[in-house]
Formats: sequence, C-alpha cells, structure tokens
Amino acid sequence: MVGFQEILVATLSSILAPIILLSIYRLTLHPYAKYPGPLLGKLTSLRAAYYAHNGDMHLDIERCHQKYGKFVRYRPNAIVVNSPEGYQDIYGTGKKVKKAKSYKVHGITNLIGIQDKKDYAKQKKIMQPGFSDSANREHEPTMIRTIDTFIEKISENETQEKATDGWSNPKNMTLWCNYLTTDVVSKVIFTTSWDLLTSTANHGITETFKTIVRLTGVLHQWPTLRNYELSALLFLPHLAWSAPSLKKFSLSVMSRRYDMGEKDPSIKDVFGLFSTARDPDTGELALAPLDVRRNTGNFIIAGSDTTASSISASFFYLARNPTAYAKVAQEVRSAFPSVSDIRAGPTLNNCVYLRAAINESLRMAPVATQPLWREADPGGCIVDGQQISEGLNVGAGIFSLHHRPEAFPDPYKWDLERWIVDPSKDEEAEKERIKEMSRSFAPFSVGPRQCIAKNFALMELMLTMANVFYQLDFESAGKLGEGKKGAGWGREREGEFQFKSYFTSYMDGPMIRFKKREA
Ligand code: HEM
Ligand SMILES: *[C@@H]1O[C@H](CO)[C@@H](O)[C@H](O)[C@H]1NC(C)=O
Ligand SMILES: *[C@@H]1O[C@H](CO)[C@@H](O)[C@H](O)[C@H]1NC(C)=O
Ligand SMILES: *[C@@H]1O[C@H](CO)[C@@H](O)[C@H](O)[C@H]1NC(C)=O
Repeated sequence: MVGFQEILVATLSSILAPIILLSIYRLTLHPYAKYPGPLLGKLTSLRAAYYAHNGDMHLDIERCHQKYGKFVRYRPNAIVVNSPEGYQDIYGTGKKVKKAKSYKVHGITNLIGIQDKKDYAKQKKIMQPGFSDSANREHEPTMIRTIDTFIEKISENETQEKATDGWSNPKNMTLWCNYLTTDVVSKVIFTTSWDLLTSTANHGITETFKTIVRLTGVLHQWPTLRNYELSALLFLPHLAWSAPSLKKFSLSVMSRRYDMGEKDPSIKDVFGLFSTARDPDTGELALAPLDVRRNTGNFIIAGSDTTASSISASFFYLARNPTAYAKVAQEVRSAFPSVSDIRAGPTLNNCVYLRAAINESLRMAPVATQPLWREADPGGCIVDGQQISEGLNVGAGIFSLHHRPEAFPDPYKWDLERWIVDPSKDEEAEKERIKEMSRSFAPFSVGPRQCIAKNFALMELMLTMANVFYQLDFESAGKLGEGKKGAGWGREREGEFQFKSYFTSYMDGPMIRFKKREA
C-alpha cells in the first residue's frame, strides 16, 4: 500500500526536481552564469517583478551596480549594463537587437510594442508626420492655449478667504501638470479634450493611467508571459482592473473622434493619420481596429504622465534652488517683449538656463526608469565588449546612467551650472565636458526606438516653464515629494525629488504656490 508520505514525497520531488535542475543550469551552464548579480535575480524574474511592483527598481539597480559593477545579471535571462558605450550598443542606430518579447504586454502591433523591424518601419512611417517640425508648429497654438488655462488655474486661490497677499493656495503639481499634459495630448492627437484643467468630471482617469503603468511594469518582468492576462487577474487583481478600464476609455475616445471625423472630414490630427492610413501594397486600412485602439491607449498614456512628471520635477528643483530660479527668471523675463512673443523658435532656444534646468531635472528624475529590455537578434550582439547570445535580454537603468559620477560629479546634487559653459575655463574643454555628459544622458532614449515625440515634449516643457516664469512667481509650499530620513535606501536625500519607478515614473507633489507678476 502506498502511504501518504510516499505520495507527498513523490509529488514534492516531481515539482521540485525540475526547479532544482533549472536553478543549477542557471547558475552554471547558462550563458549569463559568469555575470555577477543578486542570487535571487539569477534564479528567478520574480525578484525584478517585486521591484517593479513596489516602484524601487531604479534604486535597486543603482545599488546592484554599486555592489557588482558595470554588468549585473538582473534576471536569469537579462543583464543591465551601466556605461555610455553599453547604452549606445543597446539602443543606438543599426544595432543587432530588437524590443524584447516582454513588450507584448503593450500589444504586438502598435508603435510601442512592435518587435519586428519591418513591421515597425511601416508603422513609424505612418506616425512620423504627426511629430515632424511642421506638425509641431501646427500643434503649438493649441498647446499655448492650454498652457494659458493652466496658468489661470494654478494661480487661482481656491480657498474661500478674501484676497490678502495675492498668493494662490498650494497646488499639488503632479496633479496639475497631469491635467495640463493630458489636455494637451487629447487635443493634439484626438482633437478632443477631457477638460481636466477646467472640470472635475474626468479626474478619475489619472488613477487608471497610473495603475496600468504599474501593471505594465510588473508584466515586463513577468517570468511566463504566455498567459499574462490570466496571471494578472490571478496575482495582481488590484492592478488588473485598469486594463478593461483603459480599453473602455480608449473606445470612447475613438468613437467620439470617429463621429467628429464624419461631421468634419477636414480635421487634421495624429489619430487621423493612423486611423485612415492605407497599406501601399494592398490598399487596405493599414491598421486593424485593434491596432488603432492600442495605439490610442498608448498615446494617451505615453503623452501625458511622462511630460507631467518632467514638468513637476522642474518645479520641484527650481523652487528649491533660489540662485537658479533667479537666473532662469531673469533670462526668460528679458528675452520676450510680451507674453504673446513666447513661441517656439530661436529666442526660446537661446534660453539656455531654462533648458539647462529642464535637462538637469530630466537627469535627476527621468521618466522611463525600468530597463527598456532589448533582445539580441539571431547571431547575437556585442554590448560594451561582451558577446550576447541570440534571444537573451539586455538593458540599461537610466537612473544609474544619469548618476555616473565620472560624467556628473556630485551626481545627486541638482546643479544646472553643470550644463553651462564656464567662461573662466577653456571653451573647447568645456564643450568637450558637456558632450561627454550628454553621452550619459538619454531621458528620451536614443536610436530607432527613441521617443517619437521628443521635440514635441521638449516644446511643451519649454513653453510651459517659460510662460510660468513670464507670468508668475512661484515658491515651495511644503515637503511633499522630498526624500527624508528613514524613507529607505536611496530615499533619504532631502533635496531630491522622489518617485516610484513603474513602467514610467510616478511622483507626488511638489506643493507650489503662485502669484501673478505685476504687469
Ligand atoms: C518628457 C516627456 C517624455 C519622455 C521623457 C519620453 C520618453 C520616452 C522613452 C524613453 C521612450 C522609449 C520607450 C521604449 O524604448 O520602450 C519613448 C517612446 C515613445 N514615446 Fe515618449 N516620452 C515623453 C513624451 C511623449 C509624448 C508627449 C508622446 C506622445 C504625444 C510620447 C509618445 C511616445 C511613443 C509613441 C513612443 C514609442 C516610440 C517608438 O517605439 O517608436 N512620448 N518615450
Ligand atoms: C490664498 O489662500 C491662502 C491659504 O491657503 C492664504 O494664506 C492667502 O492669503 C490667500 N490669498 C489670496 C489672494 O486670497
Ligand atoms: C498629489 O497628486 C498625486 C497625483 O494625483 C496624488 O497621488 C497624491 O495623493 C496627491 N498628494 C496630495 C498630498 O494631495
Ligand atoms: C541639454 O541636453 C542635450 C542633450 O540631450 C544637450 O545637447 C544640450 O546641450 C543641453 N542643453 C543645455 C542648455 O543644457
């Protein structure tokens, strides 16, 4: 007779044996076995999934590089590298890598998720005209009108008290910048507005965005992606609700936009480009309805909280650095004769202190802080001198790259002067220094899969901050978002803006109050 104990032993060993064998393989014969890294990370992707879930991944990667060096085996099949050479080898032009299979969580037939290079090129060709310089010039007036509304709202005093000193009540900038950028993106991509700045009706959607971005980040590290929808429902129900919610929202955006298009076929926007494009070979619509929906959802999210976080970070640091604030204020206020002269162009580009402040804020608080995994093509690829076998993943932690002390002395200090040519030093050497810094600076990524909307986003950042400086004074009104003692490894520096590294970064605050400048 077979006893209970025998059954237990047989069951356990049939489960455990393959796990033990796989673990031994991963630690010995696996092509990544020679790279150092946390033991748990060598054995299972669940470790990375844990850090994606709690939002500390940028710090965890930083700590790993400090402990293990330039190359870290972060997951059984994935290494992260921290060097400008490695970064270029992974993300630069003409490299033998493609987006990793984990991008399937975005859908495999939309601009962010497409793996296949030929399919990607086709879709990029459709989207690109929506973000060209001439398209950006067409987007600009809409952007400026929305920024005007933003300035009206943030300088309002929402309290009941009688006006006393002209200052607004403190505003949570993560919230208000999200309203701004979401309204801009909805107008520019879909010729619709959800009016987050002027109405509270749609404020709930920002929670959906945040949750979907968190879910996406965890799934990017998920060990078995085969049934990721099911896995998400089972293991992450507190996040999984956001997927149907985003789907519903995207469908409503699309149906409104289709209705508008029927009434007025002359509407020109980015949605129009990708929803009506035809395949040159077949004459059929180039994007199936599902692809249109996925791209819709992706644009809503990629275009809103990324830019919002970058603007919030700029407010955070400028409000805490009075010398920098004074320089930017002086520069912007003397550059333009009137508000209506603040337009994209050479004068705005010459506001180097403003641009340096934005660069430095993007350096300290980049928005895509999980490794953007890439997979080696057939034949493998070379990353900073290392041969990577076909199918294995490589990536870089942008937070670590942005804090390399070799490129950025005193890396945790926000210092816009590091981007400015020091006139007391040799000009050529200074230019060389800044060029060297730029090699370790990639907030929008680089190469073929860099942000398609980089110039659009930079225009939004520059126009928003220039308008704010021109029309308002602002100051810090609380510690929200700062590091503090006891907040955990890497989160204790007071002058540093904290964030959660979900698939994109999530911040809290800063609290800022505003006052209209005397005309
Ligand atoms: C400061 C603001 C922004 C930052 C820092 C940023 C950063 C990035 C980064 C790092 C990537 C590469 C992602 C990857 O490799 O998986 C990316 C891709 C992308 N971004 Fe942005 N982004 C910003 C704003 C925007 C805006 C405003 C839009 C749309 C209106 C947008 C749309 C996209 C799209 C569609 C992609 C995929 C491009 C492709 O694979 O061809 N982004 N962005
Ligand atoms: C605005 O509200 C704050 C309280 O949050 C108050 O101290 C300030 O005096 C008010 N300013 C105006 C112009 O009403
Ligand atoms: C500030 O806004 C963010 C983003 O909506 C939110 O998560 C946070 O709770 C807000 N914080 C405060 C103190 O209001
Ligand atoms: C900002 O960063 C870019 C690199 O992305 C660099 O080329 C540019 O010189 C920097 N500008 C300023 C003013 O810091």
